[in-house]
Amino acid sequence: MIYFDNAATTLQKPECVAEAVCLAMHSLGNSGRGAYDASLEAVRSIHEVREAAAALLGASGPSRIAFTKNATEALNMAIKGLAGPKDHVITTVLEHNSVLRPLYELEAEGTRLSFLPCDSKGRLCLEQLEEQLGPDTRAVVCTHVSNLTGNVTDAEKIGAFCRKHGLLFILDASQSAGVLEVNMERLQADVICFTGHKSLFGPQGTGGLCVREGVEFPPMLSGGSGSHSYDHRQPSRMPDRLEAGTLNGHGLAGLKAGIEFVQRTGLERIRAREQKLVHRFCRGLQDIREIRIYGDVWSKYHTGIVALNLGDHDSARVSDELAVRFGIATRPGAHCAPLMHQALGTERQGAVRFSFSWFNTEDEIDEGIRALRQLAEE
Ligand SMILES: Cc1ncc(COP(=O)(O)O)c(C=O)c1O
Repeated sequence: MIYFDNAATTLQKPECVAEAVCLAMHSLGNSGRGAYDASLEAVRSIHEVREAAAALLGASGPSRIAFTKNATEALNMAIKGLAGPKDHVITTVLEHNSVLRPLYELEAEGTRLSFLPCDSKGRLCLEQLEEQLGPDTRAVVCTHVSNLTGNVTDAEKIGAFCRKHGLLFILDASQSAGVLEVNMERLQADVICFTGHKSLFGPQGTGGLCVREGVEFPPMLSGGSGSHSYDHRQPSRMPDRLEAGTLNGHGLAGLKAGIEFVQRTGLERIRAREQKLVHRFCRGLQDIREIRIYGDVWSKYHTGIVALNLGDHDSARVSDELAVRFGIATRPGAHCAPLMHQALGTERQGAVRFSFSWFNTEDEIDEGIRALRQLAEE
């Protein structure tokens, strides 16, 4: 199989990730729940992942990283914890349902929402930010990279806007962590939500939040923390505040290995390789009249994702043909990004999303081009 669905989850992981998980399975007890070796080893292991994530995301310290099971949980915590019924929140049409659905739930309770639109290539109209500002505006929540088009949001600009107007900035780095520099200080973000299983090459069931010092919100869950056991309330100290229950120590050991792989390889090299694959793919498709590509694929503000359609064919049908006849895995349909599809006019057809990773090769790209050419000819 040729795997081109890395925006959903990366399938080819560095060997060191599986090795780290395997080792952890046999050596880690429950972190913070005992004074014997295996429990202490879990404390150490999780602290090292925190340090790695803090260094990657530019946190002021490891305690500002709280782990969750994915980006969805992190986004729910940050969005619902930081905005209330009297607030106005600015978001964008690029968002994934992990941002939209928590926001819609808040909207049902009175929160006012505004959506920043995009142009025909899916690029955000950032110049309209100022117009959306109101006296009740509390936060901007947006994705760093569209999971449909691969377009990169100018998060630095949004961060500066938020700082200027005293707004909170919640960044969804699900598609950028491991590909772009995501630095809390440089982007002036208040909360960065990330997932472990995509470009950070970690196992599924890992993710988290990076929370600026001084930014506080209530936990979504309360329960055991291994500390302050006689208190009725969840400890207020980070990260215990946001981490009720046993952490996924085994998965997090794998995430640490994934982050280290990314750091060792270098973001610039990863990004350059993904861009090279995207350009090769798009160049190879240029003369196929029936192919329509979405997104700003030739721009430097773009990652390893190419969404396209073949004539008027349903994207699910094209994706099925690619899988069944050519052994190529892609993702069709709506990609949990309903507003982005509406903006691109692909609500009914969906789109076939190809998403590349460090582990894809030029030969695989050429196979993808050949398969699409054959389908177009047929
Ligand atoms: C932009 C974006 N945000 C959030 C998510 C949710 O990530 P997870 O499934 O890890 O919760 C995804 C996953 O595809 C995504 O692409």
